[in-house]
Amino acid sequence: MSLTAERRETPFRRGRRLRRTPALRRLFQETRLSPASLLLPVFVDARLRDPEPIPSLAGHMRWPVSRIGEVAGQAASAGIGGLLVFGLPAEKDDRGEGAFDPLGPVPSALRALRQRDDGLVIVADVCLCEYSAHGHCGVLRADGSVDNDETLPLLAEAAVAYARAGADVVAPSDMMDGRVAAIRADLDRAGLAETAVLSYSAKFASAYYGPFRDAADCAPSFGDRTTYQMDPPNAREALAELVADVEEGADAVMVKPAGLYLDVVARAREKLDVPIAAYQVSGEYAAIAAAADRGLMDRRGAALESLTGIARAGADVIVTYFALDAAAWLAER
Ligand code: PBG
Ligand code: ZN
Repeated sequence: MSLTAERRETPFRRGRRLRRTPALRRLFQETRLSPASLLLPVFVDARLRDPEPIPSLAGHMRWPVSRIGEVAGQAASAGIGGLLVFGLPAEKDDRGEGAFDPLGPVPSALRALRQRDDGLVIVADVCLCEYSAHGHCGVLRADGSVDNDETLPLLAEAAVAYARAGADVVAPSDMMDGRVAAIRADLDRAGLAETAVLSYSAKFASAYYGPFRDAADCAPSFGDRTTYQMDPPNAREALAELVADVEEGADAVMVKPAGLYLDVVARAREKLDVPIAAYQVSGEYAAIAAAADRGLMDRRGAALESLTGIARAGADVIVTYFALDAAAWLAER
């Protein structure tokens, strides 16, 4: 018997059969990206009268409260799941107390969004770094260290202010210990038991936040965030943080950044039964955008592949600066 005939009798897997046509590939897709699972970050700036492009995040703007409705309109027509709202205040102080000013940019934007009611989920980021002159996510002691427990009431007050203004979900991104419990308790005490908490539970001290810190003007003026954000090598510890936040009452939890921490996303998905969100952060967006601008990668292909990877790892919700683009691309396919 000839060698080829012998080979033909040996069964082997023909993986290519189900890849043969676009229709076959579409039918057998294991992971389906949907605009409905995307959250678009938006920046509301109390100092502006007109939208201003964000140099570090091409394609994104800082919006005045008066025009935040335009983004909501775009997001709603694109079929995106919701908005994640960040604020830039008119003035900063030592303790970041502007974070809970009911007339501040975020509560004002939330009221405007609530009034329009585009059918979007409105999530408000809760942190002090955009509001504190020093740019840290918590209150400082005299020696410059971040005082965890002193910070908790301020975060809880901000969460209550955002919930009152109409946020469906509050999302603490500060990484103080115990903040989910503090926020949940104060929300309930204020009669806001229906407001959900999405905790940035496993948030790593990442170099990939660079473009965001320009966008939100929240870079620490000294030191870094390594005493409160997680150490990048630690995945088991991330699981412990995720579990702790669920035990404290988080309705959903987040892993951040997304693309470099897919192992954490996958393990979170296995271990927990609450929704898992993953944040494709500003540096992940900017790296793809920069490579595409130089002609090194296809923007659409790289963006959709990066989002597919995050979904395949197990994220139910993806926060991404590509949300509007991705929704348009997915509608074309
Ligand atoms: C601040 C905050 C950061 C991000 C979201 N909230 C930056 C940081 O922790 O320094 C990063 C988002 C991004 O890079 O897209 N609490
Ligand atoms: Zn912060």
